[in-house]
Amino acid sequence: MSLDKKYINLFSKITSKAAISTIPYLGKKDKKAADKAAVDNMRSELNKIDMKGKIVIGEGELDKAPMLYIGEKLGSGKGPELDIAVDPLEGTNFAANNLPGALSVIAVSKVNNLFHAPETYMDKIAINTNQKGIVDIDFDTEKNIKNLAEFLNKDIKQLTACILDRPRHKKIIDKLKELKVKIKLISDGDVSGALLVSNKKYKVDLFLGIGGGPEGVLAAAALDSLGCYFQGKFIFDTQESIKRAETMGIKDINKKYEIKDIIKGDSIFCATGITSGDLVNGVKIKGNKYITETLITHKSSNLNKILVQEDTIKT
Ligand code: FBP
Repeated sequence: MSLDKKYINLFSKITSKAAISTIPYLGKKDKKAADKAAVDNMRSELNKIDMKGKIVIGEGELDKAPMLYIGEKLGSGKGPELDIAVDPLEGTNFAANNLPGALSVIAVSKVNNLFHAPETYMDKIAINTNQKGIVDIDFDTEKNIKNLAEFLNKDIKQLTACILDRPRHKKIIDKLKELKVKIKLISDGDVSGALLVSNKKYKVDLFLGIGGGPEGVLAAAALDSLGCYFQGKFIFDTQESIKRAETMGIKDINKKYEIKDIIKGDSIFCATGITSGDLVNGVKIKGNKYITETLITHKSSNLNKILVQEDTIKT
């Protein structure tokens, strides 16, 4: 069963409005305030939709997040049962410093079709093919690069890998340098980083490295519609995280998740630019209107487009 196309409009308006709600906070060095504005706005707008929605990825567990917590029921209570993953403000540092790349993101599926991810780190890898076995989290960097170069029929030096600039990635980055692979180091925002493999225009062949688990699930939802390969492995390295995995019903803590384990059936993904970045432009003001850009995918209709929306500025 596919998701009705009317939800494309409804959910793209949600991320557009959440993006706009952060505008007063851009560059104010207060990432919590910017995040709260997006969270409050998204929650109140989601509650207006006719659906029985459930947050599967949100701001955290109930004890840590009063709003958009995992398991929270949203919507009017009329309509289809939907699983909803949200990151109302992806790239809080970008927003707090008014730097490129902040997004407001949502992914939606029918009930029980979207993975309920724990709030832990995830080791991730993504490329632009749906073929399994070319790259793998368990291969070393050199093997992944050599396999990918062979698959793409490119010289290793022509490849570009995108990775978060973090000390934990030193070994991988050193190996990429040694192999003379081009590197796109990102300071934050690995939902966008992973999606850069989806189109040649971004000039990224491989995304890899450790980032947030929830961000991995959101990226996987879009990469599914975009025909890309994604693999993720949660990092349960504390007693607390292992316990949380158990309570969430995760039996094998070393499992490598393929896209089919993360998202099933139809899905809608929307990412609206807050500040301009690689994927979409940020919120612009024209006369008495906000203009937003939203990257949208809808699996069953093969939709992959950037939607421009207008919203009147309230005075
Ligand atoms: P926030 O929007 O929550 O600040 O996340 C930004 C981000 O860069 C994510 O895109 C990424 O998955 C995660 O942080 C990486 O975490 P860390 O900064 O701890 O390495």
